[in-house]
Amino acid sequence: MTGGTTGATCRICGGTVQECLDLGRQPVSNAFLEPKDAGRETFYRLTVGFCTSCTMVQQLEEVPRDAMFRTDYPYRSSLSTAMRDHFEGVAQHFLDEVLTGPDPFLVEIGSNDGVMLNTIGRAGVRHLGVDPSRDAAEVARRQGTRVLVDFFEESTARAIRAEDGPADVIYSANCFSHIAYIGSILRGVDVLLAPEGLFVFEDRYLGDIIEQTSFDQIYDEHFYLFAVHSVRAMAERFGFELVDVTRLAVHGGAIRYTVARPGVREPSAAVHAMLADERRRGLAREETFLAFGAGIERIRADLVKLLGELRADGRRVVGYGATSRSATVTGYCGIGPDLVPFICDSTPEKQGRITPGSHIPIRPPEAFRDPYPDYALLFAWNHAEEIMAKERAFREAGGRWVLYVPDVHVR
Ligand code: SAH
Ligand code: TYD
Ligand code: ZN
Repeated sequence: MTGGTTGATCRICGGTVQECLDLGRQPVSNAFLEPKDAGRETFYRLTVGFCTSCTMVQQLEEVPRDAMFRTDYPYRSSLSTAMRDHFEGVAQHFLDEVLTGPDPFLVEIGSNDGVMLNTIGRAGVRHLGVDPSRDAAEVARRQGTRVLVDFFEESTARAIRAEDGPADVIYSANCFSHIAYIGSILRGVDVLLAPEGLFVFEDRYLGDIIEQTSFDQIYDEHFYLFAVHSVRAMAERFGFELVDVTRLAVHGGAIRYTVARPGVREPSAAVHAMLADERRRGLAREETFLAFGAGIERIRADLVKLLGELRADGRRVVGYGATSRSATVTGYCGIGPDLVPFICDSTPEKQGRITPGSHIPIRPPEAFRDPYPDYALLFAWNHAEEIMAKERAFREAGGRWVLYVPDVHVR
């Protein structure tokens, strides 16, 4: 489970990356397959380490970007009401507080179906989304949002700068940490950002992942697991300054980072407080990862035991939410259709397909009620409140939810 120093090189500072977690061979998490293609998926080694110099937690093997983000990339941000509300709030904040100068311009990296950008566009503010996933981008375009279907990197940034001029805000949610070639993105931000501009990004927080033992947050797309220390070091290395951090409850715990050119803003008290908190917790220490690894083993053993017992008792168990995270859980715990015969999911692009690696069929939410199972394994635990409210009748009919974060329990 835990390994020694591998001598891998930090993608950000060139330091040594010490391997600390091996989650085995895993498929591309969002590559949901046609049943006829079962067994044709490619596997990668899912290992994580931390840099002994800059502390950045990162994967040791990179999955080619075109294998993850393609025309038919199935993730759609707008499917969750809570996330729609969240991003509307983000857009409104930019409109009210930041994009207040003459003819402001906002660029979003990883705009997906336009969940944030549509509000900016409707307000008549100049904007551009950049996202290589064409089908998702088309959803945004149909709502009048401007999207460039491409990977954001230094060359794309140069082209945008030449065409549209400097950006007052560059925003990115749940995407910046997905990009192994992050240096090219930061050089692109440097090219594109106005002198007083802000680069704002939101990503899942390493501190929350460790605290909740949410090991399913580790999968191919989450190449880096950001913390305030490592993000600050990265920003400085590329000529920027980390000026603010805000903790967010979304996706099981995230942080919104605000980065600017040096001297534009005084770093906030929140930055200093979070840095002190991370030091106190020893976030980037080997012992922390050893304990994290032991916690993962416990969850695996408890979950497999529970599912085995339920099967032996003749209970019906169904999965809920074919998340990308579920690939790590099913792959690492060895959960297949024998333990979880199908997973319900509201994404039309996933329905009728099977999960990569574990080959569990995905069905529409209507299949959940037809009839209700005895237990539902909630892979989309980060949307627990929304899903449990929507599926209230399941519990009323005697059904129970199985969760595995922060430990295996039945609700
Ligand atoms: N921002 C949305 C979408 C997150 S999914 C949200 O928070 O819900 C990640 C998105 O990043 C995908 O749509 C993917 O296609 C996109 N992406 C991945 N690499 C990218 C890159 N280099 N430039 C722009 N978008 C990228
Ligand atoms: P999510 O947790 O947002 O992301 P990730 O793939 O990054 O792990 O995915 C939530 C999944 O759950 C998505 O496939 C849609 C599905 N879902 C439902 O089926 N019903 C719901 O009510 C909600 C909110 C999500
Ligand atoms: Zn480093």
